Amino acid sequence: MLGWLLSWAVTLVGWLLWLSLVVLRWILTPIPLAVLAAALAYGYFKFTNNFDFWKARGVPGPTPRFPWGSDFGLVFAKALHDFDDWLYNTQGGKKYCGFFMFNKPMLYTGDPDLIRTITIKDFDCFTDRKEGGSKGEMLTSLNGQKWKTARSAMSPTFSASKLKVMHQLTLDNAKNLTHYAQEEMKSNGGVVELKALFAKFTMDNISSCAFGVQGKSFTDPKDAFGEKAKLMSQPSSFVKALMIARVYLPSSIGNLLPNPSVECYKFFTKLTQQNIKHRETVDTPPRDFLQLLLETKDKDGKRALTDSSIIAQCIIFFLAGYDNVANALSFAAHSLATSPECQRRAQEEIDAVLERHGGQLTYEALMEMTYLDRVLSETLRLFPAVARMERCAVRDYTIPDTNIHLPKGTTVQMSIYAMQRDPEHYPDPLRFDPDRFLPEEKEKRHPATWVPFGNGPRNCIGLRFALFETKVALVSVLKDLTLLPTETTPPPPMPLEKKSLSIVPQGNIMSLRVVLREKSK
Ligand code: HEM
Repeated sequence: MLGWLLSWAVTLVGWLLWLSLVVLRWILTPIPLAVLAAALAYGYFKFTNNFDFWKARGVPGPTPRFPWGSDFGLVFAKALHDFDDWLYNTQGGKKYCGFFMFNKPMLYTGDPDLIRTITIKDFDCFTDRKEGGSKGEMLTSLNGQKWKTARSAMSPTFSASKLKVMHQLTLDNAKNLTHYAQEEMKSNGGVVELKALFAKFTMDNISSCAFGVQGKSFTDPKDAFGEKAKLMSQPSSFVKALMIARVYLPSSIGNLLPNPSVECYKFFTKLTQQNIKHRETVDTPPRDFLQLLLETKDKDGKRALTDSSIIAQCIIFFLAGYDNVANALSFAAHSLATSPECQRRAQEEIDAVLERHGGQLTYEALMEMTYLDRVLSETLRLFPAVARMERCAVRDYTIPDTNIHLPKGTTVQMSIYAMQRDPEHYPDPLRFDPDRFLPEEKEKRHPATWVPFGNGPRNCIGLRFALFETKVALVSVLKDLTLLPTETTPPPPMPLEKKSLSIVPQGNIMSLRVVLREKSK
């Protein structure tokens, strides 16, 4: 039997080889070769026939090249923030310029007036982020009416009063952060890898606040949340290229590529489904996002969001909230360690406010820490989580005071990183100076020159929660510990990781010397 099967297999392979050779010989004859060449030429023409899109409109910008458009470096080597710096400072992007992702034309602008117009005044024409949206239900990728309905159902979940219910969860997770920082100080001669600790804190905090599951990242190095999060936040170059290609290639090609996020989504979907089922049988107090979303009602008193929508939102809270906050904490830690005067002022404010509140880090106490608030604003000015924000025209649009006509579907990328480092808006821009955010200083600037959380009705829905948990973590660390540079700590501003799509400290680490404060010894 085995011999018979083997001879069949050998015959089959032989036939297939013979058939391939016949086809190849046929292709290499003049007529099929001409057809193939014509098909390739047609494909090339179809792909590049848009390449004069910006030139025809008189918009400056880099010359597009087949097949990457203007973003060749982005896919393979260049960091997105460096590419944006280049657009902003050399290609006219400070006002506006046009570039291409593959064959997709995009407008890039760093003009605060135009940014404000697109994100606020003419928002009804720019409600969407991506043309056609994605098939998923995550708030980040929903479009049009679907986005409006989901956003207005979810917005109350992020109000100050709802945040208070997550206060205790965040305080508990921050206690772990300082405990493990002190453990690492003892075992590592005072040097602590803070990025890893901040990431564990934000992971545990978002898993308890979004999914209602207490994470164990401080105690279990193989914690499932951590493993899945790493897949998404630290993609390999190949996965990064896949992610970019799926978003920007024409969807007929992009959808054929494998989706690197599938495994991660499957894990979070199963976890949330189990949790929703459990909560249907057990009365749960509203102490996390999952419960608040389950209790969100429409005007008829029915549940406003379906199970699949709630699952999608929990996943996006996790993806959007975990690494961004850990990076903001790491950049703040580096900035304070290398600006001792700023750290001293922050610690003095923390001591004074806590004393007024009987040593308790209440929500109200946090709100009184205005210097800490300025430290975070300055940190996010120099190190926003992402280099740009994006909107897509839902109908034809003419840029105000110009005759530049953008057809429906055109994507507009608005500068965050490059604009926030422009000396015209922030003199001596690379210097860390929280007092740039004193009310009288803020008043002198255009409001759209500080947009780390985006701008307008489609800005970051997690803004308040992000600032709140960042402040809780910083206060918990700074009330007992002082941060100092080590011999190898780079001078400010902290250099950035080139391989990442978002703004991440170089090497994705933040090693600092940590010592107990005098008062705590
Ligand atoms: C330091 C931390 C964070 C930064 C700097 C940040 C920044 C941003 C930015 C720039 C956007 C795009 C806004 C726009 O297009 O105008 C955004 C959107 C979003 N962020 Fe955040 N984010 C942070 C933390 C969080 C957290 C903790 C959550 C959830 C708990 C979150 C959830 C979202 C969601 C759902 C959107 C999409 C909003 C929509 O399309 O309606 N973010 N974020």
